[in-house]
Amino acid sequence: MARRLHLKLPDIRPHARELAGTLVRRLDATLFPGMHLRRRIQGKTVLITGASTGIGEALAYRLADAGARVLLSARSTEKLEQVVSAIVDAGGQADAYPCDIANPDDCERMAAEILAEHPHVDILINNAGRSIRRPVIHSLARFHDFERTMQLNYFGAIRLTMALLPRFREQGGGQVINISTLGVQTLPARFSAYLASKGALEMWTQVAANELGHENIHFSLVNFPLVRTPMIAPTEIYRYSPALTPAQAVDWICQAIITRQKRVGGVSAQLATLMHMSLPKLSEAIVNMGYQMTPESAAARGKTPRKPVGDGDYGDNVRPLRRRRRQ
Ligand SMILES: NC(=O)c1ccc[n+]([C@@H]2O[C@H](COP(=O)([O-])OP(=O)(O)OC[C@H]3O[C@@H](n4cnc5c(N)ncnc54)[C@H](OP(=O)(O)O)[C@@H]3O)[C@@H](O)[C@H]2O)c1
Repeated sequence: MARRLHLKLPDIRPHARELAGTLVRRLDATLFPGMHLRRRIQGKTVLITGASTGIGEALAYRLADAGARVLLSARSTEKLEQVVSAIVDAGGQADAYPCDIANPDDCERMAAEILAEHPHVDILINNAGRSIRRPVIHSLARFHDFERTMQLNYFGAIRLTMALLPRFREQGGGQVINISTLGVQTLPARFSAYLASKGALEMWTQVAANELGHENIHFSLVNFPLVRTPMIAPTEIYRYSPALTPAQAVDWICQAIITRQKRVGGVSAQLATLMHMSLPKLSEAIVNMGYQMTPESAAARGKTPRKPVGDGDYGDNVRPLRRRRRQ
């Protein structure tokens, strides 16, 4: 005998509310972004990973200035302390949570501490990331490149998100903003390890969003093009390429906070997706010819010491993991 399927009636009200507010939030983000950012986050608690340098650091200052309490995470205690001090000196609220997010135990320790110390966490911004620029053919004896990018960019981000999800449900909602890259759409050569980890993060994010929308838990992806930060500093060719400033990158994240749109990215992302879908062989030929034309970096050829700064390896600034807090 055929088994009965027990379907439940879905709750369409959260979706109706969210869709109805979409246009207004887009206008808010376009017309008076500063005012609406403040309105959206004043008094809220925002956890930012990768907040010791680059985009995360610039974001920490912007959100604290707009009235949020920012919880800042990265490995380097000293740099985090400096950011926290600068925010507190300017009258803001910030706490430092040193953590190696690629380490599962440490990531869980930090999540537990944050949950114990903050009754609400309203927004999580998974910004910590590492990029590795090396072609597949030079990675044959470097499987750890693939493991390390996954450990931070994918597993670290989703481990932290999943640790916070029960709190989001208890408090009736939350927002997760996952930082990705334009590369996921343009598929540039030499980034197989990095893009695979960001691609995994994007897939996870979209499925989680599909499951949690009715619980007022919203997910956004931000696909940055090049941004002038320490991450790209070691790659010489990027010195001559156009790039966003960290402040412009922060504008994109603020747009995601205000609008809660599913993806923030430039027009080039949409064009690249269209091109790869409609003319895949031509796209491959174009990217491949670019690959052939550009020289290999010394690091990719294994000519530099094992710990190049820009490869995201631990630097001397990494201290034993300790937590420090400032009021
Ligand atoms: N810059 C670009 O062109 C670009 C383009 C597209 C997307 N993105 C994405 O934007 C995000 C921010 O990048 P960025 O350019 O600002 O890079 P960045 O200046 O190199 O900053 C990376 C941040 O992540 C932290 N981090 C690295 N490994 C970590 C770990 N294991 N645990 C905890 N924190 C860790 C770093 O601090 P510690 O070293 O102190 O841990 C630092 O605060 C990344 O997700 C990146 O993939 C950047």
